[in-house]
Amino acid sequence: MKKKILFVFLLIKCISGHDFRNKSGERFSRDFLFGIASSAYQVEGAWNVSGKSTNNWDHFTHTRPEKISDGSNGDVACDSYHKIKEDVKLLKDLGVHFYRFSLSWTRILPSPFSNKLNPDGIRYYNELIDLLLENGIEPMVTIFHFDLPQVLQDLGGYTNSLIIKYFVKYAKFVFENFGDRVKIWTTFNEPHIYCLMGYGQDLLPPAYNLSGIGEYLCSYNALKAHAAIYHLYNNTFRQQQHGKYR
Ligand SMILES: *[C@@H]1O[C@H](CO)[C@@H](O)[C@H](O)[C@H]1NC(C)=O
Ligand SMILES: *[C@@H]1O[C@H](CO)[C@@H](O)[C@H](O)[C@H]1NC(C)=O
Ligand SMILES: *[C@@H]1O[C@H](CO)[C@@H](O)[C@H](O)[C@H]1NC(C)=O
Ligand SMILES: *[C@@H]1O[C@H](CO)[C@@H](O)[C@H](O)[C@H]1NC(C)=O
Repeated sequence: MKKKILFVFLLIKCISGHDFRNKSGERFSRDFLFGIASSAYQVEGAWNVSGKSTNNWDHFTHTRPEKISDGSNGDVACDSYHKIKEDVKLLKDLGVHFYRFSLSWTRILPSPFSNKLNPDGIRYYNELIDLLLENGIEPMVTIFHFDLPQVLQDLGGYTNSLIIKYFVKYAKFVFENFGDRVKIWTTFNEPHIYCLMGYGQDLLPPAYNLSGIGEYLCSYNALKAHAAIYHLYNNTFRQQQHGKYR
């Protein structure tokens, strides 16, 4: 934890001076980007407003608060859902080149089994993306950062290979709606941490604790979903949208 705080402190110090230097005191090359990262569940709050449905983190923190050291949850978090302007101003003041954030699946597509997008979810991310671009900050978007629709979790989450189909469908909506402006995409944040701690251990939702089975099934399906989404983007969207893909 101390190490993390030190890192963030150094990063902010470095950025706030607008003087990007490496360990030897030499300037970073111009293609080296500095930025700040977040994830939807950790910052957005507004867990039950405007058509968003319940995800696995909402469910976990509400049903098993003892699993969180201080029993807290992300119902409000940093309230970023209501603070687009304030957040972008903070980013602008820090002088970052990019802001990496994730999309809340259940805010965009409340039922994974339907094709009905939630207009308020689309509006929220459109406003955030547009304001970042107006301020010269590149949006770097993670499509999945641990917050799975609870109905998919009830079907086994990433241990069920049906997840590939549903994740691809959600990603297609994401590219269609935001890919005209977002050029740097990440499919899946830290699959190793997610699968190990969530499926092999009991530290993150769904806390299956199926060591030796859970993390392998999860990793296998996560990799296949990543590959399918990569090809979807490369074959269908890259030519018009000219994005990069990681
Ligand atoms: C620091 O940056 C300079 C110029 O880009 C580079 O030549 C040097 O290897 C870098 N040193 C370290 C420790 O990263
Ligand atoms: C949303 O959740 C909050 C707790 O975070 C609760 O107070 C409120 O009543 C809920 N609203 C609805 C519409 O369920
Ligand atoms: C998780 O599994 C380990 C053994 O693999 C066991 O020691 C531990 O008690 C389990 N945790 C829970 C909460 O059941
Ligand atoms: C990505 O698309 C390009 C152009 O359609 C194609 O040439 C290339 O083989 C594709 N890359 C992969 C890894 O499939």
